[in-house]
Parts: sequence; C-alpha cells; structure tokens
Amino acid sequence: MRAGFGSYSLLLLLLCPVLLAQRTPQRGRPRKPPRPTATRKPPHPPPPPPAPVLPEVEPAEPTDFPPPILNPPSPFDNCPRECDCNPMYPNALYCENRNLRRVPQIPPDTHYLYLRNNYIDEVTAEPFKNATDLKWVDLANNRLRRIDREVFKKIPNLLYLYMDRNQLKEIPNDLPEGLEQLRVSHNQISKIPPGVFSKMGHLVLLDLHHNRISDGNLGKNAFKDLKNLMQLNLAHNILRKMPNNVPHNIFQLFLDRNNIEDIPQGYFNHFNNLAFIRLNYNQLSDKGVPKMVFNISSLLDLHLAHNKLSIVPHITAHLEHLHLNHNQIEHLNGTEICPFDMHARHDMEVAPRLRYLRLDGNHLSPPVPMDVINCFRHLHSIVI
Ligand SMILES: *[C@@H]1O[C@H](CO)[C@@H](O)[C@H](O)[C@H]1NC(C)=O
Ligand SMILES: *[C@@H]1O[C@H](CO)[C@@H](O)[C@H](O)[C@H]1NC(C)=O
Ligand SMILES: *[C@@H]1O[C@H](CO)[C@@H](O)[C@H](O)[C@H]1NC(C)=O
Repeated sequence: MRAGFGSYSLLLLLLCPVLLAQRTPQRGRPRKPPRPTATRKPPHPPPPPPAPVLPEVEPAEPTDFPPPILNPPSPFDNCPRECDCNPMYPNALYCENRNLRRVPQIPPDTHYLYLRNNYIDEVTAEPFKNATDLKWVDLANNRLRRIDREVFKKIPNLLYLYMDRNQLKEIPNDLPEGLEQLRVSHNQISKIPPGVFSKMGHLVLLDLHHNRISDGNLGKNAFKDLKNLMQLNLAHNILRKMPNNVPHNIFQLFLDRNNIEDIPQGYFNHFNNLAFIRLNYNQLSDKGVPKMVFNISSLLDLHLAHNKLSIVPHITAHLEHLHLNHNQIEHLNGTEICPFDMHARHDMEVAPRLRYLRLDGNHLSPPVPMDVINCFRHLHSIVI
C-alpha cells in the first residue's frame, strides 16, 4: 500500500523525464543528437508511403520478404528510387520501411541517413563511396550480420550510429574515431574485439543492452579509453561481475538484468559525475554490497530492486530516488538509514533530498516508521 503523500507519486513519475533531461550536463561540444531540433531536424517524409502488408508469420528466407518499395524516378539529382528526398532538407535521405535488402547508393551531400525497419543483412562500402559527409546513420531494426570494415573508412565524420535490433554477433571494428553515440542494443553480441573502443575518446553514449556479453567477453580495459563516455548501458546481458575500468566521468550506468553478485569495495570511488545507477534484477546480497559503496555524492537515482538485500545500504543526503522493492528487507530503522544527524535537523534546505522510496515486495508492513518520516522531509511518495 501507499503511505504518506502517496497521491503525489504519479505527478513525481511524470516529472522524471523532464528532470532527467534537465540534468544531462552539457559539455563543450554540442552533445545533443541533431535529430530533434525544430529547425535542423528534417521531418519524416510527407506523406508516408503505403504501409507494406506484413505477413502473419515472419518470413524465414530473404526471398520470402515482400518486394522493395520503389519510387518513380525522382526529379532530384542523385535521389535513389528506394528513398524519399525532401528539397526542404537536402541533406537527409529517408529510406525507412521499404523492405530493402541493400543500402542504396548514398548521394554525396547526405548528412542524415534513415534506413530503419528494412531487411538489410550486410553493409558494404560501395554505397558509401561518396558519402563522406554522413553524420547520422540509422540502421535499426534490420537483419544486419556483417558490416564491411571499409564502410567506416568512407564515412570518417560519422557522429551517430544506430544499429539496435539486428543480428550482430560482435562490435564492428574500425568504427569512426569521432563517433559520439553507438547504439547496438538487441543484437546477439558476445564478442567485443580487444581495443575496439581504444580510439573512441569522443564517444558519449554506448548502448549495449540486450546482448550476450559475459565477463569473459569484456577485456579488463574494454572501456578504459572512453574518456568522454557519459552513458553506458549493459543491461540484459550475462555479467556476473561489475565491469572493469568504467570511465570515471560517467553519468549513467545501467546494469539491470545481469547476474551480478557483488560490487567490489570502493568500486565507485572517483566517479564524480555518476547520477544514475541501475542494478535491478541481479543477485546482490548484503555480503556483496559493502555498506558505503554507494557513498557517491553526485548520485540522484539508485535502483536495486529485485535483488537479495536485507540491509538498506548507506545513501547520501543528495539521493532523490531509491528503489529497493522486491528484496528481503525485514526491518527499517529510520535513524540508522538517515544520512544525517537527526538531532541537528531543522532546516529543510539541508534535509536529505530523498523524494521517492520503494520498499514494496519486502518483508515489511505498514505503517512507515515515524523516524523515516522525520528524517526524509522531502519524501513525496513511499511505497511499502
Ligand atoms: C562519386 O564522385 C565521383 C567524383 O565526383 C563521381 O565521378 C562518381 O560518379 C561518384 N560515384 C557515385 C557512385 O556517385
Ligand atoms: C562519503 O563520501 C564523502 C564525500 O565523498 C566523504 O567525505 C566521506 O568520508 C565518505 N564517508 C565514508 C564513511 O566513507
Ligand atoms: C534504531 O537505531 C537506533 C540507532 O542504532 C537505536 O538507538 C534505536 O533503538 C533503533 N530503533 C528501533 C525502533 O529499533
């Protein structure tokens, strides 16, 4: 049941994405993907091509796929028949949802290339020969198994590469060194070639969730050189250990749904920007979580739901959201978990910032102890 100010919890949850967006630190170089801004972002092609009628069962053989959808020859120079070109956005090429098996020939002045939702299984260098200005390539939801190493040599200015929802078994080699975002979630990646990220000092976002990465696949130094990395997502893999040498500038670390049993003492020392940690659905027990391991002053959001904890780990006064639901907690002593001297407290300004606390699915029953309410003066919602 909900207690305290439960009715505010919905509002709080709705506000979360806004908060998250506001808190994303902006560094020297512009970090935002070019996609969203109203002036620069090319809109989706008007009007959408007639949706292909999808067969009920996903076709097994490429020959069973519906035929590619081609346009009549375009009045625009270089515009491939597999794509839409919009004179308002001469640098964008829209080729998504076309049943394509191959990447069409990319015109030289293309910056944004949309190839999402096709049946492409291999990417060769040929179509990219003159596309040296490409900054954004979206190949999500295809059948990619193989990327020719030569492809990336043709497009050295690439900043964003999206290949989520494909059939890749390894991280491609020779990725452009200036790349800022790499999304390869929902593939079958188990291989991370040694040094594959070693020259990628500009990478800000690395999304590897929903793959088959184990401790053995991650070399000790796999992430070491990613000096600008801010978001690392390794959720839904088969890790048993915390990854080694995660760069200290990181802002968001997601490790949900692995089999992690413990966090080494001092693992998060020197992480001065870390604000979001997600470790839901792992195998963490009290033994595996050193009491002070989350004493991270930048931390705002800590998810430890669906583990085996019976003790609430130490939190700092800055933490705003704590998810401890579905663990094995039997007692809650507000005085002990209060990151603060309860007797010195009067001032709301210095009271612990915790606003949202989930404790349901433990061995606790209401009411919420008075000392918890007394300590966490900013609490809007507690679920017990
Ligand atoms: C690439 O550019 C060269 C030189 O501008 C041109 O001769 C050639 O036809 C172009 N190739 C393709 C495939 O567009
Ligand atoms: C917790 O972190 C703060 C700030 O980083 C530090 O000053 C303090 O000594 C730490 N506390 C413990 C018990 O390690
Ligand atoms: C909570 O912990 C404090 C300090 O350890 C202790 O003095 C107090 O008796 C505890 N309260 C309960 C209800 O067990």
